[in-house]
Amino acid sequence: MPHLHIEKFKEIEYPLSHDGVTFGFVATNVNHTSEKLISVQVEEDSFFLLSKEEDGRSLLKSDKLTRPASIYNVHKALLAYATLAELNILASNVPEVQKNVHLQEVTALKSIDFFANDFPMTREVRIEVGFGSGRHLLHQAAKNPEILFIGIEIHRPSIEQVLKQVSIQKLDNLLVLDYDARLFMELVPSNIVGKVYVHFPVPWDKKPHRRVISTSFIQESRRILKVGGSLELRTDSENYYAYSYETFIAFHKTTLQINKNKDIAVTSKYEDRWKKQEKNIYDVTMINEEESQELSIEGSFDFDLLTTDDDFLLALHATTKRFEGGFIHFERAFRLENGVMLRLSMGSFDRPEHLYLIVENHQASYYPSMPLKSKSNLVAHQFLKRVLHG
Ligand SMILES: C[S@@+](CC[C@H](N)C(=O)[O-])C[C@H]1O[C@@H](n2cnc3c(N)ncnc32)[C@H](O)[C@@H]1O
Repeated sequence: MPHLHIEKFKEIEYPLSHDGVTFGFVATNVNHTSEKLISVQVEEDSFFLLSKEEDGRSLLKSDKLTRPASIYNVHKALLAYATLAELNILASNVPEVQKNVHLQEVTALKSIDFFANDFPMTREVRIEVGFGSGRHLLHQAAKNPEILFIGIEIHRPSIEQVLKQVSIQKLDNLLVLDYDARLFMELVPSNIVGKVYVHFPVPWDKKPHRRVISTSFIQESRRILKVGGSLELRTDSENYYAYSYETFIAFHKTTLQINKNKDIAVTSKYEDRWKKQEKNIYDVTMINEEESQELSIEGSFDFDLLTTDDDFLLALHATTKRFEGGFIHFERAFRLENGVMLRLSMGSFDRPEHLYLIVENHQASYYPSMPLKSKSNLVAHQFLKRVLHG
């Protein structure tokens, strides 16, 4: 994660621009006033830089929640802020002169909006969830040039590694997305996917709600798979295998194939490790046999003018409001020059969305962009509107 260790954080006048970067406003954490978020706009990317104190000095880095697709834009923003605020930099991992040549050429990295606005529909799609080192994904894409592969990961170094390979191998049938795969599934059109691969997902034995495989993930997979298409889970965890089997078999009508220690064409780093340790590997393959209804998501993320005041909104901090099928958790509260900002997680329990809500002059809006237009987010939005009105 790019960052600057600085002697002392200094504010600037907002808005202010330098080297193609515009800093719009600052938000101060109500409970930790040394923690500040500075809004940044670079080209298409809107995100926050985060400043906080650590061990008597300050740290400036990108905010994890809003971090943009382009790491280059984070570098640019950090350097621009340091120049404008005349920061005394003590240590940094940001290169002064940059742009990763491979990443510059790469168009394979797509934003969630790309898929939400115009999902590529011209050829069969295969999805790999949590591709890690990308060995399996790259192998499949090279072997099947007529099929479009979409790889989804949340681990940035893995994404960059795969993007480099896409560029080196000149693959034009592989798109990469930095996003929670569980949310992504909700916007994929019905009946267009040949395979969904979930290989060696994190078992999350202590936090099962974070698992990729869940009833809703299986439901969405069934919807997006073509007739004859399959969801392929491969795991070394006996516990995860047993949990997944139970979750799959609970469906009224389902066709499953179970394999133990099946060899596949390409093994991942994880698989090599488990094989060396002589661990068993389990495959659960669900084959879809039914055509699903077209995807239809109606609704908007509009807000009415609020009648509640800033103190009411700030008091929501650290509270959780539940509704049937989901929740809204008010994680952090910030003060703005003319309003407040709340950091939220909201939506369904097994695939919540994390975002910021800004309220200025009684008008609420999401930052930096609206939630993903999914059924669970639209339900959560209606509930949020009621909470904000008191
Ligand atoms: C144990 S690794 C396995 C990687 C790879 N499939 C393999 O076989 O080597 C699990 C990967 O899933 C990713 N991951 C976990 N939850 C995810 C989610 N909700 N959406 C997308 N990727 C996720 C993690 O970042 C991690 O790289």
